[in-house]
Amino acid sequence: MALEVIEADITTLAVDAIVNAANESLLGGGGVDGAIHRAAGTELLAACRALPETLPGVRCPTGEARLTPGFGLPARWVIHTVGPVWHGGASGEPALLAACYRASLALAHELGLDSVAFPAISAGVYGYPASLAAQVAVRTVRDAPWAPPQVVFCAFGQAMAGHYRDALGA
Ligand code: APR
Repeated sequence: MALEVIEADITTLAVDAIVNAANESLLGGGGVDGAIHRAAGTELLAACRALPETLPGVRCPTGEARLTPGFGLPARWVIHTVGPVWHGGASGEPALLAACYRASLALAHELGLDSVAFPAISAGVYGYPASLAAQVAVRTVRDAPWAPPQVVFCAFGQAMAGHYRDALGA
C-alpha cells in the first residue's frame, strides 16, 4: 500500500474512487461536497437522492459510507462519507472520524479498487482540528485490515499537506 500526499482539487483526480466529505442528507453542500457535485453533474444528486433513508433526512449516518458512480468526474466512483462535527474531542469524534476511513476502505475493498483519494474529512466546515484529522486519517488507513495499492491524501492547500506529511512521518 502506497500512501501519498498531494495538493490538488480532488475532483480532478483520475483515481478509481474519490471520497466525499458529505452530510447525512447526501443532498450536497459546500466545501468538497459542493465541488464534487458541481464537477460530477446533476446525475450525482439524483443518484444520492435515490439512496434509501435510514432515518427521515438521513441517507448516510455519521461514520458510515455510501457508494455512487462518479458520472462527470474523472474518478469512476464517489464514496460518500459523513465525518463528525468537532465538539472539542470528548464526544467520540476521533472514533467516528476513524469509522469514516474504515467504512470507505471497506467499500473500496468490496469493489476491488486499486486507488482511492481522501479529502481531509471533517477538517473544514465541521471544525475538526486539521493536524488531529490528518493523524486519524493516516493511522486508520495504516492500521486497516485492507487498503488499495494506492491511497491518496488530497490536501486542498499547503497547510493541510503539511499536516498529512507530519502524520506520515510520525
Ligand atoms: N478538493 C479537495 N479538498 C477540498 C476541496 C476540493 N475541491 N474543497 C475543500 N476541500 C477540503 C477543505 O479545505 C477541508 O480541508 O476538504 C476538507 C473538508 O472540508 P469540508 O468540505 O468543509 O468538509 P467537512 O469539514 O467534512 O464538512 C462537511 O460541509 O460541504 C459541507 O455538505 C458538507 O455539510 C457537510 C460539511
